[in-house]
Amino acid sequence: MSMDLPAAPKSHGKVIPKLYPEDKILEEAERLINAIKQPERWTIEHCKTIAAYTLEINELKKQKDVYLIAHSYQTPDIIYGVADEVSDSYSLSKSARDAEQKIILFSSVRFMAETAKILSPNKLVIHPSPEAGCSLSESITARDVRELKKKYPGVPVACYINTTAEVKAEVDVCVTSSNYLKICENLPGDKLIFVPDRFMGEHLQKSLAGKKDVVIYDGVCEVHALFTGEKILSWRERANEAGIDLQVLSHPECSADVLEESDFIGSSEVLIKESIRLGSEGKNNIMLITECGTADRVLAETNDEMNIIGTCVMCRHMKTTLLEDILQSLREPRDDQIIRLDQEVIEKAKFSLEEMFRYAEI
Ligand code: 13P
Ligand code: SF4
Repeated sequence: MSMDLPAAPKSHGKVIPKLYPEDKILEEAERLINAIKQPERWTIEHCKTIAAYTLEINELKKQKDVYLIAHSYQTPDIIYGVADEVSDSYSLSKSARDAEQKIILFSSVRFMAETAKILSPNKLVIHPSPEAGCSLSESITARDVRELKKKYPGVPVACYINTTAEVKAEVDVCVTSSNYLKICENLPGDKLIFVPDRFMGEHLQKSLAGKKDVVIYDGVCEVHALFTGEKILSWRERANEAGIDLQVLSHPECSADVLEESDFIGSSEVLIKESIRLGSEGKNNIMLITECGTADRVLAETNDEMNIIGTCVMCRHMKTTLLEDILQSLREPRDDQIIRLDQEVIEKAKFSLEEMFRYAEI
């Protein structure tokens, strides 16, 4: 049994990189192939075709004082070729807040780049793919939150970080997949409103039962919603029949039946760390119930032999960005690649993010 990973993205060739001597291209291609560690999918020939892009991007980053942040679901050429930092949404928010460079380039979906702008409002924040959205962030508007607050006056509102800046500006605190349980448990009162992820909300309702009432909303992640408990169960049965001790690790954006069938639940970064830890203990038959980029990172960052079982789902939004888009936006960002937010929205949204840092680090 082996994992069905999508093919490496193909260049769409709309941006031509600088010319580099053959020996430099070969050296960079070797650096890439050694870092990505999937030589069948990321062949030396393919790495040679992307080497000029990574070389020029890394030069421009230095020249222009740019910090390039990438979410774990970005493709390995971005993560291992050009990113200064890669992690989950909580850690990346902190990195965006603390970056010393003048410019942040966020290779990810729109809400993450907006979060960087809210936390570092005086920096230029570049988002190479303005069309890269998120089904969760599109499921709720600031007006929807205002209506909920009217319906439940005085009840604290927590929102998942996968939301627009305008939604963050309406709530009391933001949370991420690595801290939603802790933060919601510690909010004052015996009731809270949680938006927009219904599955995470249901997980909260179950975990806080008897302590707090949780009012939930109806958004879902279109990627994680595709997994079912039934499918995991049948993978488990097949693995058992083959004498394989399967470790099922899932992201909390999955439905309750998936989480019930899982051995471990965590943010993208936590899932990667736990997979690597399990591999180092010889428990290397791993099933990752999440976006495909998670497995790419496990394969690149472990020194142990891993048997990643089952399939993964690709996020079309996360995978929108190509090296070409990063190069073009670094050379000369288009107006729609620069994050601009209303000052009042920044100030209110910043409060809910700062509350997240405060509660998460209690
Ligand atoms: P984390 O990386 O914070 O786990 O979040 C995953 C996600 O929603 C990205 O779309
Ligand atoms: Fe949004 Fe889901 Fe894609 Fe994350 S994986 S960006 S939650 S659609």
